[in-house]
Amino acid sequence: MSRQRIIIDCDPGQDDAVALFLAMASPAELEILGITAVAGNVPLELTQRNVRLMCDIAGHVDIPVFAGCDRPMVRDLLTAEKVHGKTGIDGVEIVEPTTPLQEQHAVDFIVETLRAAEDESVTLVPTGPLTNIGTVIDRAPDVLPKIRQLVIMGGAMREGGNYSPSAEFNILVDPHAADIVFGCGRPITSMGLDVTHQVLSTRARVERIRQLGNPVAEATAGMLGFFERHDSKKYGVEGAPLHDPCTIAWLLAPQLFEGRFCNLSVETRSELTMGHTAIDFWHVTERPHNVNWICSVDADGFYDLLTERLGRFGD
Ligand code: RIB
Ligand code: CA
Repeated sequence: MSRQRIIIDCDPGQDDAVALFLAMASPAELEILGITAVAGNVPLELTQRNVRLMCDIAGHVDIPVFAGCDRPMVRDLLTAEKVHGKTGIDGVEIVEPTTPLQEQHAVDFIVETLRAAEDESVTLVPTGPLTNIGTVIDRAPDVLPKIRQLVIMGGAMREGGNYSPSAEFNILVDPHAADIVFGCGRPITSMGLDVTHQVLSTRARVERIRQLGNPVAEATAGMLGFFERHDSKKYGVEGAPLHDPCTIAWLLAPQLFEGRFCNLSVETRSELTMGHTAIDFWHVTERPHNVNWICSVDADGFYDLLTERLGRFGD
């Protein structure tokens, strides 16, 4: 795949942070045009701070960082401190970042960047609630032809919900934005819980990363050491699903993953199933196949890729 120009929209979150590291370790394949923060795992003032801190740790103070929407398009904000800790990135030392926060709002940055781009030339990689991206599409639908594809962490089918019985967190936080995004007509690949629950951060995998001995690897091992405690207890397995890096790994090594084109529709009315992603996996309806729904991954191959790339920060 040719070098992709990407914008990562995220809500760090330890797993978002590892996705950022993986992307920053891969300049030959990925040109990061900017990183935009959204409210999600923790409020916006923390997610934007956490993005900048990851840029510091990775030595990428040059990447422009923007703050976006501080609450969903319609509903009240839900956060996930019980999973990520009060800082959103518990497990790593918190200091005031040197990477600056840009003045411009994230939505304006994304619209302006897309308007200036060639058709089908920018890949959007959202790994948090889709509020920023949904707002971009709602405010400036003229930019849609500029989007090459969206590679999203969100949704669930076989795995059920992780924040409600039927909804995955990113979609549940802002189902109205998700409905806009999944209905936008541009190519979408979605990594839901069905695949992210296959990449568990076991102690052996985290130790292998820690042994790399560079600041990024040490920060990653520290964050994953905290991040795994909630999910390993909840699911009764060793390690936690490393959700968000699956998006970047797919861009780098799509051969590690298997997916199926089908329809994904978002529940935006029922309080009982709000944010549920109804996936027509067996094509039992005539609904358009709007998503490449990723079902499986070579988990060892994923961690080999992640470990090799994080090792590059020691070069
Ligand atoms: O449900 C998992 C998703 O919600 C991940 O992106 C995690 O960071 C949280 O945002
Ligand atoms: Ca996230």
